[in-house]
Amino acid sequence: MLKDNHSTTISRFRKLSTRKKIILMSLWPMINDHQKSRSQAKQEELPRKVVVVGATSGIGLALAEQYADMGWRVGVAGRRLERLKAFQQKHLGQAFIKQIDVTNPIKACIQLDYLIDHMQGMEVLIICAGTGDIDPELDWSISDRTIETNVQGFTAIANRGFKYFLERKSGQLAAITSIAGLRGGDVSPSYNASKSYQSNYLQGLQKKAVKTNSNIHITDIKAGFVDTAMAKGDGQFWKASPKKAAKQIVSAIHKKRSVAYVTKRWRLIAWLLMLLPGWFFNRL
Ligand SMILES: NC(=O)c1ccc[n+]([C@@H]2O[C@H](COP(=O)([O-])OP(=O)(O)OC[C@H]3O[C@@H](n4cnc5c(N)ncnc54)[C@H](OP(=O)(O)O)[C@@H]3O)[C@@H](O)[C@H]2O)c1
Repeated sequence: MLKDNHSTTISRFRKLSTRKKIILMSLWPMINDHQKSRSQAKQEELPRKVVVVGATSGIGLALAEQYADMGWRVGVAGRRLERLKAFQQKHLGQAFIKQIDVTNPIKACIQLDYLIDHMQGMEVLIICAGTGDIDPELDWSISDRTIETNVQGFTAIANRGFKYFLERKSGQLAAITSIAGLRGGDVSPSYNASKSYQSNYLQGLQKKAVKTNSNIHITDIKAGFVDTAMAKGDGQFWKASPKKAAKQIVSAIHKKRSVAYVTKRWRLIAWLLMLLPGWFFNRL
C-alpha cells in the first residue's frame, strides 16, 4: 500500500513541468518540517494527563475512573495508600500514584511535583481533597481540621498547580467547591466558610490567568449533594451518584466552564439561595 502511494507520487512528480519541479524542490524542506511538526503534535496530544488530588473515594475516585476509561494518564493522590495501590493495579501502566496529605502543605507540594514529574507532565489538575463534618457544638477540632484541609491544604495545591501551569502558559485547574459556599450555614459554619474561600480563591486565579494572557482555565465546580461518605446529615435531596456527578464534572472541565453546578439542577437552588433576604434565610 505504502509502496503504491510512493510510486504514484513519483509518477505525478515526473509529469510536472520543470518550473513546477524546481518550485516544489525548493519548498520541500518547509513541507517536510511542517509534516514532522504535525506528526509530533499528534504524538504530544496522546495520552492526555490529569492529576486528581483526593481520589481515594467518592467524587475524586469516580473522576479518576472516568478519565482512565477515556484513555488518559491519571495521577491519583490521597492519604489512603491501599486505595491508591488498588487503583494502580486496576489501571496498570495508565495510573500513577502518590500518597499526599494536604494538611502538610510544604511536603504536599513537593509530593505533587514528584507525581507530575513521574507522569511526565500534567494538563488538568482537579482538587477533590476535602473534609466536612456536622458541627452543632462548634467544636474547635472540627473547625481546625476543616481549615487545615479545605483552606490551607487546598491553597497549597491550587497555588502549586497554578504556578506549574503559569510556567507553561497553559493548563486547567478545577476544584470541587460546594453550593454550601454560597451562604453561611449553621450546621457546619466552618465547612460553608471554607467552600466560600475556595470559590473566592479560584476566582482570584481566574483573574490572574486572564491578566497574564495565558491559556489557563479555572473551573469552580459547585456541587450539590453527592452520595459519598461526606454527604452527612438529614434533609438531603437531589443526591446524585458519584458517577453521574463525575460525568457532569468532566463535561464542564472539557467545556472550560469557569463555574459549573453539579448536578445541573442545583443552579436553581443557587439562584434561590443568592436571592433570599438575610432575615428570611436565617430562619430556614
Ligand atoms: N458529597 C457531597 O455531597 C459534596 C457536596 C459538595 C461538595 N463536595 C466536595 O467534594 C469533594 C470530595 O468529597 P466526596 O464527597 O467525594 O467525599 P469523600 O469520599 O470523603 O472524599 C474525600 C477525598 O478527600 C481526600 N482527603 C481528605 N482529607 C485529605 C487530606 N488531608 N489530604 C489528602 N486528601 C484528603 C480523601 O482521601 P484520603 O482520606 O485517602 O486522604 C478522599 O479521597 C470535597 O471537597 C467535598 O467538600 C461534596
